[in-house]
Amino acid sequence: MMLIPGPVNVPLSVSFEASRVVNHRSDEFRRVVEGLESSLKRLFSAERVALLSGSGTLAVESMVFSMTRKGEKVITIPYGEFGHRLEESLKRRGTNVVSVTKSPGTTPSLGEIEDLLDKHKDAETVALVHNETSTGVALRNLREVAKLVKGSGRKLLVDSVSGFAAYELYVKEWKIDAVATGSQKALASVPGLGFVALSDEGIGELKGEDIPHYVDVATHLKFQDKRETPFTPAVGVFYASYRASQLMEIEGKERRWKRHDASARYLRDIFKKIGMENLGEDDNFSNTVVASTPPVPVSYMVSELKKRGIEISRGMGEMKDKITRVGILGVVDDRALSRLVFTVQDVLKKDVYYPPPEETKLPEALKTEVIWD
Ligand SMILES: Cc1ncc(COP(=O)(O)O)c(C=O)c1O
Repeated sequence: MMLIPGPVNVPLSVSFEASRVVNHRSDEFRRVVEGLESSLKRLFSAERVALLSGSGTLAVESMVFSMTRKGEKVITIPYGEFGHRLEESLKRRGTNVVSVTKSPGTTPSLGEIEDLLDKHKDAETVALVHNETSTGVALRNLREVAKLVKGSGRKLLVDSVSGFAAYELYVKEWKIDAVATGSQKALASVPGLGFVALSDEGIGELKGEDIPHYVDVATHLKFQDKRETPFTPAVGVFYASYRASQLMEIEGKERRWKRHDASARYLRDIFKKIGMENLGEDDNFSNTVVASTPPVPVSYMVSELKKRGIEISRGMGEMKDKITRVGILGVVDDRALSRLVFTVQDVLKKDVYYPPPEETKLPEALKTEVIWD
């Protein structure tokens, strides 16, 4: 059973669809391009969604390169590994980066963001990570952050690679310029596509004149207007992701957001009772990654779970030996959570159990498609 923070276990029909190969200039494939963008527009509540063949990093870098200019002043606040990668992408773009790093497990407060906006009046853009996969914390208040940043007249770019589909998100209504994600996270598709969702304002901010074609979001959108992609797409991943987005629509986005929230609360609660110290607080815990310091060495916990058939991750970078990370994103449900809890308790010789709440269950249509082996 794979419970890492992506790639994730996918429903059977999604993995079946991934094996399709067709002519990408055919009407059959045009239907998939159109269907996938339409579905993702509803799920993001976005004006447009660029469909890029590549991983989440491609989506983040396409967003950064397409929506900023060289020399533009950008505020970013890394609070983990992926925040630093975002900062690096901004630097490679040649923007003038103002970066304030937060310690692992913490997130910037609204007050801190406001202070930075006041201090750097000439900054045009704010770029932030929504959900920090490396430490299991998140900007749970993204709506308020967007209100603050957009209210100050700045552009807002968000890396939500491990956040999309697991939290309430309304790109248009919140006026976020762009949000980047990947197919292999809470959408529960296979790896291979990156998505950049845009609001009306975001579309107006597309620059693109001095960047490579492949990362130019405007180029992709121009081809999607014709229901095509500019280059040879990852055809099977388009099919798989279209199916995954349809399944998310069957579940309902609000229900999926709630399922992730309920799963995170349940696991954090029971972990705490058995001596696992969770990173993050009530106001910034992640819905997709539970990061904890176990009462035994991290490598021991990871290998003992592996012996018992469950794969989780350890920390990244400086947190490598300090935390375990359990991915609870995509179609992770009450069955997977129960098995994980029993197995962790077996390793720690503990005996506390209560079942996951109803909200962690998948709807029947999805449940029958998800096998935990
Ligand atoms: C927050 C965040 N940003 C960016 C990435 C990079 O995505 P990928 O590995 O698909 O390139 C990840 C991957 O885990 C992530 O969690």
